[in-house]
Amino acid sequence: MKNLNTPFMIGDVEIPNRTVLAPMAGVTNSAFRTIAKEMGAGLVVMEMISEKGILYNNEKTLHMLHIDENEAPMSIQLFGGDADSLARAAVFIQENTRANILDINMGCPVNKVVKNEAGAKWLRDPDKIYHIVKTVTSHLDIPLTVKMRTGWSDSNLAVENALAAESAGVSALAMHGRTREQMYTGHCDHETIARVAKAITKIPFIGNGDIKTVQDARSMIEELGTDAVMIGRTAMANPYIFTQINHYLETGEELPDLAFEDKMKIAYEHLNRLIALKGEHVAVREFRGLAPHYLRGTSGAAKLRGKIAKAETLAEVDDILGYTPKTIEFS
Ligand SMILES: Cc1cc2nc3c(=O)[nH]c(=O)nc-3n(C[C@H](O)[C@H](O)[C@H](O)COP(=O)(O)O)c2cc1C
Repeated sequence: MKNLNTPFMIGDVEIPNRTVLAPMAGVTNSAFRTIAKEMGAGLVVMEMISEKGILYNNEKTLHMLHIDENEAPMSIQLFGGDADSLARAAVFIQENTRANILDINMGCPVNKVVKNEAGAKWLRDPDKIYHIVKTVTSHLDIPLTVKMRTGWSDSNLAVENALAAESAGVSALAMHGRTREQMYTGHCDHETIARVAKAITKIPFIGNGDIKTVQDARSMIEELGTDAVMIGRTAMANPYIFTQINHYLETGEELPDLAFEDKMKIAYEHLNRLIALKGEHVAVREFRGLAPHYLRGTSGAAKLRGKIAKAETLAEVDDILGYTPKTIEFS
């Protein structure tokens, strides 16, 4: 079986394998990114950061820029509606953080973002995409990438938008196979991903959407023709998916899923890293929203979820999960 998991380059940054952790607001902070990295993600992407938050020195935004020394290679994703402001925020990131790559969000579907001409709003106009990429790359030394959706309300401009970004100088392009209008409904549009994969020839193209299994990952690469896969929601429930996909792409063999106790070990480590990052009060509250993903599909999950939803302290979560590891060792 051919090893599909070889390293690849984004500009001058080597990505050791073909798996990428998708940016997810409220999720892909350094606590989770380091876990994904230890589980085998080749590249991890920060939750989206507001360009205005950086330019106005917003304390919360600057705190979000924390990067652990073990994350490299990692990418910071910016969202914003104005090329010059994005370029200034990008330069701030290049000069003040450990980011290896800068990404621009051209996919966020939420009203608050598109009303400000940002996120998926860019998808209606390939010329604007070209202009923004050109402007930002002209100020940057680190590679610039873009993550986009297939379109605004249909995928008619998918190839044109992708080519605009490529010809303006991005070093890689990721595409989520849904339109803005779809939000998260329906299915990943494989036909459009395949069309874009064929059209993009000079830079790596990263396919994203609905990868739930190792076979999904392999077919995104082998059948649709992408260079790598980006995984979001499945990784939230099972960061071990990166180990499983890497192994499958390398050998064709499927690793079994983790046992419940091992999943809880990861959840518990995630909470501890969140506490180190944000303090116990905030971290335990955030964990209430994260724990249900880890518990998905396990018997008695509803009961545990209900209890975690009321937890206030690490000790309480500890009690509920029934697990106090002395040391955490990932295999
Ligand atoms: C909770 C959550 C937050 C997200 N935040 C971002 C974000 O900040 N930037 C972005 O480009 N996409 C964001 N996305 C979209 C994901 O990166 C990804 O494109 C989408 O979930 C499809 O991939 P999946 O099927 O593997 O989850 C988010 C998705 C989720 C579920």
